[in-house]
Amino acid sequence: MTSEAEGGQAGQVHQPVMVREVVEFLNVRPDGFYIDATLGGGGHAQAILNRLSRLDGGRLLSIDRDPAALAAARERLGSRPEVTLVQGNFSEIDVLHAAGGFPPAAGIVADLGLSSMQLADPSRGFSFGVGGPLDMRADPSSKISAADLVNYSSERELADLVFKFGEERRSRQVARAIMRARPIRTSTELAQVVTRAIPSRPGPHQIHPATRTFMALRLAVNHELHNLEQFLARVLTVLAPGGRVVVISFHSLEDRLVKQAMAAWRQERKALVLTRHVVRPDEEAVHRNPRSRSAKLRAAARVEDPAAGFGDNAGSGLLQ
Ligand SMILES: C[S@@+](CC[C@H](N)C(=O)[O-])C[C@H]1O[C@@H](n2cnc3c(N)ncnc32)[C@H](O)[C@@H]1O
Repeated sequence: MTSEAEGGQAGQVHQPVMVREVVEFLNVRPDGFYIDATLGGGGHAQAILNRLSRLDGGRLLSIDRDPAALAAARERLGSRPEVTLVQGNFSEIDVLHAAGGFPPAAGIVADLGLSSMQLADPSRGFSFGVGGPLDMRADPSSKISAADLVNYSSERELADLVFKFGEERRSRQVARAIMRARPIRTSTELAQVVTRAIPSRPGPHQIHPATRTFMALRLAVNHELHNLEQFLARVLTVLAPGGRVVVISFHSLEDRLVKQAMAAWRQERKALVLTRHVVRPDEEAVHRNPRSRSAKLRAAARVEDPAAGFGDNAGSGLLQ
């Protein structure tokens, strides 16, 4: 469980998570076509670009649903003919890929969740640490904000949402407190209401009492689990035979979906799982970049010839 909702610092640059592992699992070749499904601060995109050769035809398509992320990355990466930046939802990766007339991809990475820039921006309302309106929309053109969910859902709906997406055992207490305090307009107000309803219990893995509620709202507002399911259902159709897919998730609900999808691919002989065990950042990486502490990486490779299937060596670890 990450407590990223506690916030970030303004002007902070996003530190990419497990960059070396991403590049190695993608097996980036200079002449390949790659997709970064979650551009964010452009850290993984930059690492892929460093290995590509424009002269050899290497290309990168980078996607983000957040126009602010695209604008920042455009500035950071500059205009380069081998890079295409597209605003879109990775749940439609097949549609975005087909629309650009790209070749099948040699590798695709999705680094889920939020960037430090999004967390640190008070106007987005993702974190109670920086205050701001209770918004939480990753794509500002989407209709329902966190304030809408908090102020117009029934008590039962709120309790279910906080339980299902936040895995908050005290969800009914949270929902009751929200009902009493409505209307709630800012992320700070919501954090205070939740903290009064369920004060933190001292313990070794203590997180802020509002962390699970914030995570639940963010997942619900942005349909994050549904988007991930759609991505996983479609991603193999975009990959070239032998192409790799790498997913980094930050909480258990996401990781479970990735693990189950990859196990199904393996069973259906569509892909090899390259990470027998989930890959975590080492201690030094977590020390350098505390946001990475809950990161879990899984990778798979589409089989060259689905008809041929594969033998008992499938699933052996690559980097471990
Ligand atoms: C953790 S950040 C990615 C950081 C990036 N890998 C880097 O190295 O800088 C996640 C990004 O994915 C974007 N995102 C989340 N869900 C998305 C979706 N369904 N479709 C497209 N982008 C999404 C977010 O807007 C955010 O910018």
